[in-house]
Order: sequence, then structure tokens, then C-alpha cells
Amino acid sequence: MKGTMKVLIVGGGGREHAIAWKIAQSPELGELYAAPGNAGIAAVAECVGVRSDDSAGLLAFAEEKGVDLTIVGPEAPLVAGIVDLFSARGLEVFGFRRDGARLEGSKVWAKEFMRRHGIPTAGFAACDDAASALAAIERGTPPFVVKADGLAAGKGVIVAATREEAREAIELLMLKKEFGAAGNRLVVEEFLEGPEVSILSLFDGAAYRLFAPSQDHKRALDGDRGPNTGGMGAYAPVPALSPAMLEWIRASIIEPTFEGMRADGIAGAGILYFGLMLTADGPKVLEYNCRFGDPETQAVLPLFDGDLLAAIDAAARGELDGAAFSNSPLSAACVVVASGGYPGPYRTGFEIAGLDEAECRGCVVFHAGTALRDGAIVTAGGRVLGVTAVAPGLGEAIAKAYRGVDAVRFEGAFTRGDIGARALVAGERKEQR
Ligand code: AMP
Ligand code: GLY
Repeated sequence: MKGTMKVLIVGGGGREHAIAWKIAQSPELGELYAAPGNAGIAAVAECVGVRSDDSAGLLAFAEEKGVDLTIVGPEAPLVAGIVDLFSARGLEVFGFRRDGARLEGSKVWAKEFMRRHGIPTAGFAACDDAASALAAIERGTPPFVVKADGLAAGKGVIVAATREEAREAIELLMLKKEFGAAGNRLVVEEFLEGPEVSILSLFDGAAYRLFAPSQDHKRALDGDRGPNTGGMGAYAPVPALSPAMLEWIRASIIEPTFEGMRADGIAGAGILYFGLMLTADGPKVLEYNCRFGDPETQAVLPLFDGDLLAAIDAAARGELDGAAFSNSPLSAACVVVASGGYPGPYRTGFEIAGLDEAECRGCVVFHAGTALRDGAIVTAGGRVLGVTAVAPGLGEAIAKAYRGVDAVRFEGAFTRGDIGARALVAGERKEQR
């Protein structure tokens, strides 16, 4: 049965395809639009030629079509205040206001928030100028992590093994302005070690629910080598995260964060992403994101049981407590297929073959960077596809995802061969004990 809600999804990557795919299953849905969308999203939504950072254009579109709910995927429009803009015009929109989105939009602000509310995180110095950043390097012991304050598409974080490398990072970010105004302020941070876990939460300003914990693979090459990327694959849930540790994280990180947001007057409805590191001293927050993670969402939403549109709509109205929300006990793996050269320069426009075959092999293929050209689906980005599979066990999910990956072909395609491999090895070790 077709519902009546008109929904607009802002964005056009793998994350937005996963959101669109899940929402398209909702009985409440009438019309689904995506701006700008991509060739995969076009199978479930009408793609509109408005960019995700064109807030005024999106507002005009939503008003013209009578959109009932707008769901914002990427961080940039949230940080720029798209939710404030839509709300002021009386439109229902899901995502944090500009003040809440500062948890991602300013790393200095986020670290000060964590300090203020006693949330475990790496020790740090917030620096307004190069002299104070250099002084922090002299005071501390390497390695350091030097972070640009503002948004830098995941690239503004530099791990420096020595003081000399840290000085170079400060020069690059603050003096050469590699990421523009994002480097006007810096965080110089203590280096932490341990497995990383991403926990995505749905928050309505008071109540919250958690999606399955997941793990991203940020480096380009197998064995966590090579440059950082937007993420080369993900799996969920994370066997390394015991139920007891998750309870500790709820009590010591997640709930104090939401209480802190309420105390600071920045609570609202949105997705809060906790980027955690499980250190020997316990879990610590590496970063907050004010939106669904990518590619994590591509592994996490296939495990979400139930109606995502109803859950998000309830959160946007501040009524999450009455809404159904549950995750299946299965496992999911998502393997990203990228363009040759990514995250450096790469070519696009190559025709993609084998998408149907991958689906026949039991996978869902989320499109991250694709476009339609003369009826053919072609590559249009660095990360092109996220081939996702669900199975009762993580090992099976990974094997199934790679069988799907083997079916898709385009010139220069590359993947990591070890998505989830470390979790399997760790799992086996646990079983032997
Ligand atoms: P962020 O954007 O702050 O999450 O940083 C991006 C990535 O840099 C993280 O996912 C980690 O892999 C790494 N990173 C960030 N902060 C630290 C830290 N304090 N110690 C070690 N690695 C870090
Ligand atoms: N996968 C990391 C992020 O979405 O920021």
C-alpha cells in the first residue's frame, strides 16, 4: 500500500542511496525525491538537479512540491544551517540545527564540549595561532595528531610521528591553508591506539536509539596501509565490542553527550555519530559527526528492522519514545569499489557492468559515485559503489559481498581485499579461548 508522505533526501552518495533504499520500503512513503541523487538512487527516487549545498534552491524545491519531510545526508548543509532555514519557514526537516552541527563543524568546539561534560577523549590543546600550536608540540611528547578545526572532507587530520612532522602539519594547515579557513584554528591532540568503532544514534532531542555498531576502513590499501580515504568498506555489528563495553559507552559517553547537548541548549533531532577508539584505558571519543557515516550507513541500515521513515519522522517530531526501533541479529559487510587512483586524482565516465549479476548473487549495490549517460551507468566519483551483503554470520556476509564485488567491472576498479578480516581473526581468537 502506498502512503502519502512526500520525502526529500539531500545528498547523492552511498549513504544517501542506503537511506533512500530503506525509506523506499516504508508503507508511509508517497513520493521520494533526492537532490542531487545518483544513478542508483534514481531507481527508487526522482532525482532533482539541485546541489546539496544550495540551501535556498532546496528550500524552493521543498516548498514548490509540498515536501512533508526533508532528510539531510551530508554535513556541509547542516553546518551551514539548512535546518534552521527550513524550520524558520515551517518545513519539517530532520538533522541538527547549526548550533548542534558544531559538534562536527568545529573540532575545537567539540573538544571543549567534551571537556566541559567530562566525556573521555584524547588530551588536547586548542590553538588560535601557529605560535601556540608550536608551543603545544614543544610541551608534549610525539606522536601527535594535528587537526584542522573546520570541515575538510575527512582530510584535515594529520598523524605526526615526530615533532618535525607536527611542525610541518601546522605549517600546512595553518600557514599554507591547505583546507582554507578550516585551518584558522587547530587542535593538537594526544595520539591514541586501538580498534575504532562507529556508533550511529538516532536522537530526538530527549530520547535516543542506537543502530548496530560498525567499523569503517579508512586507509586505501589492505592491512591499513596507504593514504586516508572517505572509507573503503564497513561491517556491522562489531564483535570486538562486548555488550558490557557497549553499556559502559552508553553510560560514560553517549548519555553524557546528549545530556551535555541539552544543558548547552543545542539538543534537537538528528543523527549523532560517535567515532570511538577502544584504547587500553577504555573507549574514547575521536570525533562526533552530526549525520549518518559513510560507508557505515551502507552496512548498518540493511540491519535495521522496521520502518526507517517512521522512526526518523518520530524523531523529527520529538516522539521517538513511542516509535518502533530494532536491529536484526544478522551481520552485514559493505565493500567499496573505487576508481583507480582514488583518493588521489582519478578518471570518471567508465561504463559499469555486472550490477544485476551482483544483485543476483544476493548483494545490494549502493551507488556512491555514478551517473547515467545515454542509458548506461558510468563512474562519476572516487568511491563508485558499495557492495553490501547480509548473512547470519560476519564471515558469510563478507564472502557474499566479495562474490558481488567479483561480478562488477569497470576500467580501473579497485577494492580492499580485507574488509572485516581483522574482526574475523579476533572473533576466532575469542572462540578458541
Ligand atoms: P577524526 O576526523 O577526528 O575522526 O579523525 C580521522 C581519523 O584520524 C580517525 O578515524 C582516526 O583513524 C584518526 N585519529 C583521529 N584522532 C586520533 C587520535 N587522537 N589518535 C590516533 N588516531 C586518531
Ligand atoms: N566513515 C566516516 C565518516 O562518515 O565520517
